[in-house]
Amino acid sequence: MALVNRSLVTIDDLSNGEMEALFSLADEMSDSMGKQLGLCRGKVMASLFFEPSTRTRLSFETAIHRLGGSVVTAVDVKATSLAKGESIADMARVIGSYADIIVIRHPWEGAVKVVADYAGVPVINAGDGGHQHPTQTLLDLYTIKKARQTIKGLKIALWGDLKYGRTVHSLMFALAKLGADILFCPSPGLEVPQHIIDKLVTEYGGELEKYDAANSAVKKMPSTLDAIYITPGSPHQLAMMPNLSLQVELEKGVDALYVTRPQKERFAASKEGKESEERYPVVDKKLLKEKEFKKTLIMHPLPRVDELAYELDTDPRSMYFKQAALGVPVRMALIASLLGVKEISPAQEDSLPQTDYPVYQREYGVRCPNPRCVSVQETEIKYLKPEFKIVKSRPLTLRCAYCEHGFEPKYIASTEWHEGILAEKKYHSADSHWTRKIKPENLIIFDSESDAGAHGFKPSHYAKGEHETGDDRGKMSKEQ
Ligand code: NCD
Repeated sequence: MALVNRSLVTIDDLSNGEMEALFSLADEMSDSMGKQLGLCRGKVMASLFFEPSTRTRLSFETAIHRLGGSVVTAVDVKATSLAKGESIADMARVIGSYADIIVIRHPWEGAVKVVADYAGVPVINAGDGGHQHPTQTLLDLYTIKKARQTIKGLKIALWGDLKYGRTVHSLMFALAKLGADILFCPSPGLEVPQHIIDKLVTEYGGELEKYDAANSAVKKMPSTLDAIYITPGSPHQLAMMPNLSLQVELEKGVDALYVTRPQKERFAASKEGKESEERYPVVDKKLLKEKEFKKTLIMHPLPRVDELAYELDTDPRSMYFKQAALGVPVRMALIASLLGVKEISPAQEDSLPQTDYPVYQREYGVRCPNPRCVSVQETEIKYLKPEFKIVKSRPLTLRCAYCEHGFEPKYIASTEWHEGILAEKKYHSADSHWTRKIKPENLIIFDSESDAGAHGFKPSHYAKGEHETGDDRGKMSKEQ
């Protein structure tokens, strides 16, 4: 499918074939930079950066200039009408009537989806809080491909802040899709959030092996290794001798080590910041002397702080400045394709089948538990209705449609007051049999008993918490 008029909000918006085709177009454009100047003449790109940025903003702006287009820009929420209380949706509608394409970075997770929903022109996510940064992922993959020709079958270690780092979140989904194995090497306390692991395992079909130093035959390499994601179809024989085959695989070496800085601006509490600062692992010459790093590409989205030693800058394995430079041709290829001035032709249409989860949307009841989610931040303004995908019914698990946080809500009820069985409005524990009994279109989900109470629902025998009355099953006939 052509990319014209589409938006790039998460890395899932591109199939493997589309990513490959963008890389070919980026190759073509960098071979003849001077010839691209006529492509976007007359086109205007809005560049909205409501969080600090050097590389991403300037490489996007360089990209549109090299394509012959021009830029309008805003870099500070305080200097826009958002500071007067304007909604993101209104801002998107207005800017969409000025510009042909919008590039936006915003501190709220899911904010770029809102812009894409309302702008009416293609929107590119240049980083939304700790959620995703898909164009960084494109240039990361492009860098690896240039050095290794393929992504499939590689072993890529992700290092540092895997909890709040949006670059690693987008990258791990892309790596899983493209068939690489991932070694998770987090700074202690900054491990990959469980909902991201759940998505990797259930939707990308790989396996996660938790590394257990005490019971593993595998020598601990790299030093902060916490878990390994093994992509489906990779040549591991994990069912037979898991530890030994892993040992053999790791001894062949790590193909890329992707280092990230602590995302201090997103740390929940100063305690989290202080602790991780003290324990944050550093990549330096000494670490890279280990045999498994002999041919490793050292990568970093930049900016670096103290986690990547300056002594490595002249090391031939270091890729981070090259990575930043490749951001321009990749972004040129993307902008030109979304604007429809260049058409890419993906060789294969091999993205994962879209998982069709039932959607849950109501004006009241459950809210996304992520305080940095746009649906939490914008609820004061009435247009934005919280929306969730029901990704599992047992235990009932929701995923926010904006920031993609997954969680297990506690209470449920039915708009039909229990499918016509009961006369009264009652709510139940989400882990009772009612969760499967209530039709999805009738489902009401609550975060708390007080919220259910405020909407006129009373606890059934199946509501746990302060009303818990023991065994579910025995109460069934009484209830009915
Ligand atoms: C990253 C970002 O903003 O998420 N930087 C970038 O875009 N190159 C990484 C970071 O800030 O740590």
